[in-house]
Amino acid sequence: MLRRSQLYVPGNNQKMLRKAPTLGADSYILDLEDSVPEANKDEARRTVVRLSEELDWGSHELCVRINPRGSIHFARDIAAVREAKRIDCVVVPKAEGDCSVVHERARKKVMLIIETAAGFVSLRKMVRSRGVTAISFGAADYAASVGGDVSAYQDNGALKTIVVAAAADAGVDAIDNVFFDLVDLKGFRTQAETARSLGFVGKQVVHPSQVSPANDVFTPRRSEIEWAQEVVAAMGVAAVGRRGAVKLGGSLVDAVHFRLANRLIERAREAGLSV
Ligand code: COA
Ligand code: MG
Repeated sequence: MLRRSQLYVPGNNQKMLRKAPTLGADSYILDLEDSVPEANKDEARRTVVRLSEELDWGSHELCVRINPRGSIHFARDIAAVREAKRIDCVVVPKAEGDCSVVHERARKKVMLIIETAAGFVSLRKMVRSRGVTAISFGAADYAASVGGDVSAYQDNGALKTIVVAAAADAGVDAIDNVFFDLVDLKGFRTQAETARSLGFVGKQVVHPSQVSPANDVFTPRRSEIEWAQEVVAAMGVAAVGRRGAVKLGGSLVDAVHFRLANRLIERAREAGLSV
């Protein structure tokens, strides 16, 4: 499943919802949580379910972010999503502990957002909840939860490293957090590139202008694909000569590079590139 860009769309904004399928994101998150005012929650839920069927979302992943456990909307959101056939995945904000109940009740894949201290310390258990397909991290809510600054958590390498490790250990995707500055596309790209180098497969985005940079950053470069193909070829030749390590372009190449190369080729294929 391609998730290089995952675009949030406020669930009560019909104009943005209708525009969304034309914006080229790999995955969409129709939001019922923080971008929807309390007074509009019921209307947003109805709108999201209706437009999930009415609009043509192609083969893109369609997710709905529900309200957190403990809110009066949680059960209603899950019940509505469960009946909506086109919706693939439920995004759970402020996820904490075992979240298997969401998958059991909604009968959909589940994506968890770590954005509280309790969520972070229960990460290992959380990511192994039933139905989980991806995890992400919410810097603003997390900062609020622990009493820090958003800026300190937006680019927090230590925390992101742990998120990626938890995801990889459970065999699910790690998706990088939202970048709130809609004007600073250079900053967006830098943050996305760092995330990619840590092992994230994509980035959550909030504005059409962030979609194409995210798709671009998380697509393997032609030079990387060529390197991967050379590694695979070199290791093939090495195997015939009963060697496990060879020199390629002045660098050592062995089984670990073979694994990295194969993974990169797989990601290039997923992104529709010719390899
Ligand atoms: N999804 C779909 N369309 C969007 C969009 C989104 N997330 N964000 C903006 N657009 C559309 C606008 O409607 C506008 O369309 P138009 O040219 O047809 O009029 C166009 O893209 C340009 O938008 P712009 O005028 O630059 O921004 P805005 O002031 O309309 O909206 C935000 C700015 C931040 C309010 C808006 O991007 C947004 O609501 N983002 C998502 C917020 C969200 O879901 N938050 C929860 C997760 S953190
Ligand atoms: Mg949040």
